[in-house]
Order: sequence, then structure tokens, then C-alpha cells
Amino acid sequence: MRIFDFGAGWRAPHTAHLRAQGLDVTAHDFGRNFTAGVHDPLALSRTYDLVFASNVLNVQCTHRALLATIAQIAIATCTGRAVANYPACPRKYCVDTRGVDRRLRIFFAEVDRIEDEDSAPVWSVAGPDIPQARSYLDGFRFTAEEIAAANVRPAGAVGRSPIVVRIVARMLYVSLPAIQT
Ligand SMILES: C[S@@+](CC[C@H](N)C(=O)[O-])C[C@H]1O[C@@H](n2cnc3c(N)ncnc32)[C@H](O)[C@@H]1O
Repeated sequence: MRIFDFGAGWRAPHTAHLRAQGLDVTAHDFGRNFTAGVHDPLALSRTYDLVFASNVLNVQCTHRALLATIAQIAIATCTGRAVANYPACPRKYCVDTRGVDRRLRIFFAEVDRIEDEDSAPVWSVAGPDIPQARSYLDGFRFTAEEIAAANVRPAGAVGRSPIVVRIVARMLYVSLPAIQT
């Protein structure tokens, strides 16, 4: 089972914790949050059985960056499944839960809300439209502003893993220690 931590964060703590449980996890990030030796620079050239994007969709600051990020997740998912959330804060681009749902449906045939809280929705998605995702990404480049806006570094604190990571751990029947973000 190949697992993909998309937008893993500069220290990729969830990748490390899942690997400590013996799982095969690849971490991906970009811009100043890409860390050599932590993130795989070729991660986007492969596909995975389970992709997760924890606190990633909400840091996109434009319509095009949000679509491109979902398209990248779609291509990495291929025949697998992806889990992503859209927390209430921060939301860097002004789109509501229904707007994100609509955008997920552009690239995935199967879109299920698995957490119904409107302020913190989580989706499980499958059946990506790969040609559509490839066509959107053809010639696409994130702008420096889009990358800078996305490159959030959560303040260091010991706490519970984010909701998406807890859902992934539940799906994989593993437990996770407290995290230092
Ligand atoms: C708020 S942090 C979340 C980090 C971690 N996933 C977590 O839940 O603690 C968002 C991360 O996603 C990364 N990110 C956002 N969009 C991305 C994209 N299109 N490609 C790669 N990384 C992305 C950012 O650089 C940042 O490190």
C-alpha cells in the first residue's frame, strides 16, 4: 500500500509517524517548504493507493491554484483514493464548502463528504478524470505569490494530529503519537 502525504509540511511529521508504523509513505511539498531529504522531488511522477492532503486546499489563494492542486492530487490518486479537508481557518481564497465540492467534482467521479461539519468538511474522493487533470496542468505554473501563500508553517506545539491524518490512521488501523508541528 503506497501512501502519499501531499502538502506534508516542511518537516512532514505525519509521514514520519506513519512510517514509524511500518507504512510506505512518500512526502511532497513545494517552495520554501520543500526540504531535501524529507520530500521526494519525484513524488508527483508516481501514483499511490491512498493520498491525503491535510490542511492543503484551504491555503490556496486563487481559483487557479486550488484547481491545480486538486488536479495534482487527482493524477497522484489514479486508481486509489484521496482524503482532503477544508478547515474554516485560514481560508486564503474566498470559496465556501460547496465551491470546493464543485471543484472536486471537476476532477473526481466519486466525491463523498465524510465529515459533515460545514466549517471543517472532509472528503473522500476516487475515480479521477486523469485527462481532465492533465489538460488543466498543461503549461500551468504556480506563481511565486501562490506558493508563498501556501507555504504555511504551523506554530510548534504538541497536540493531536489533524483530522485528515486521524482519518487516514483509522483507515489503516494504526495509532499515532502526539505530534509536534
Ligand atoms: C497548513 S500546511 C499543512 C501541513 C500538514 N499537511 C499538516 O496537516 O500539518 C500546508 C502545506 O501544504 C503545502 N502545499 C500547499 N499546496 C501545495 C501544492 N500544490 N503542492 C505541494 N505542496 C503544497 C504547503 O507548502 C504547506 O507546507
